[in-house]
Amino acid sequence: MSSQQLIERINEAEAKAVAAFKSAATAEQLEAARIEYLGTKGLFTDLMKALGSLPKDERPQAGGAANKARQSATEAHQAAKEALESASSRDSFLDITLPGRRKPAGHCHVISRTAAEICEIFAKLGFSIAEGPEVETDYYNFEALNFPHDHPARDMQDTLFVSQELLLRTHTSPCQVRTMEKSQPPVWVVVPGKTYRRDSDISHSPMFHQVEGLAVDKGITFADLKGVLTAFATAMFSPDTKIRLRPSFFPFTEPSAEVDIACVLCHGQGCRLCKGTGWLEILGSGMVDPAVYGFVDYDPEKFSGFAFGMGIERVAMLKYGLDDIRMFYESDLRFLKQF
Ligand code: DAH
Repeated sequence: MSSQQLIERINEAEAKAVAAFKSAATAEQLEAARIEYLGTKGLFTDLMKALGSLPKDERPQAGGAANKARQSATEAHQAAKEALESASSRDSFLDITLPGRRKPAGHCHVISRTAAEICEIFAKLGFSIAEGPEVETDYYNFEALNFPHDHPARDMQDTLFVSQELLLRTHTSPCQVRTMEKSQPPVWVVVPGKTYRRDSDISHSPMFHQVEGLAVDKGITFADLKGVLTAFATAMFSPDTKIRLRPSFFPFTEPSAEVDIACVLCHGQGCRLCKGTGWLEILGSGMVDPAVYGFVDYDPEKFSGFAFGMGIERVAMLKYGLDDIRMFYESDLRFLKQF
């Protein structure tokens, strides 16, 4: 074969290879064409071998033509391969018969849920919902609640101070004063919210939640307090839940009472949860101290009222039988998904 004939066959092979790659409709057809033209035993290999039989001085020209032709065939193969791949991924993207991708839906955190449940019970009893700031002044958090400066009762709450005058509220009780400043009796409010104390262990967290309650009107008595709290406990826990009131002290209530519910585990028999007493403490309460009315210009001869405050984590722990408050804040989905 002369070098001229060989170059013609090389050009022919290039044209046929490019056409075969372009017309391949599937990856299998393309691969068969690649083997036929570019494979180790393919047409281009044969043509390369044929170069050896040409006279030495004719080899460079024919060899250059062969390299160019194989290069362009290789590029045509690559282009055809990419075109087939992108077509196949486009097809699967457009496959409307495939099931949709589900985004996992979140749900309300157990603390938010418990807060909402508590508020809903009080809403049915005629209370409305109020809110107040988490960064609070000494005046609302202590002073106007009848905690005088240097009063030892301030030590009951390990306060986190922001400055001399500002602090992170240690309870939701400051909203009692804020509410009474803004409105005249009858006042019936519950105040859910975050509270802060320098305290951290299995049953205390530096940030926790409380719901405060306040009712001031003409002729409100201790019996109203007991009735409202009994209605709350039976709605929140179970219809036969018993409550008991124990004398206590808070600077802003007089008299004051701590309220227990019959143990949710042993129903009063005595067990590990209630430490053998049969009772579990759930909240603090009392009749609003006339000294507090002095700060908001209510006439204690005309009005009387009661107040109470409870920890939402505590209520949730008792309701769901949990023994470690830190579980609420660890964002462990295995825990949170149960509620
Ligand atoms: N603020 C109190 C506390 O955090 C709870 C409390 C007790 C609230 C008695 C009240 C109340 O409204 O009357 O420990």
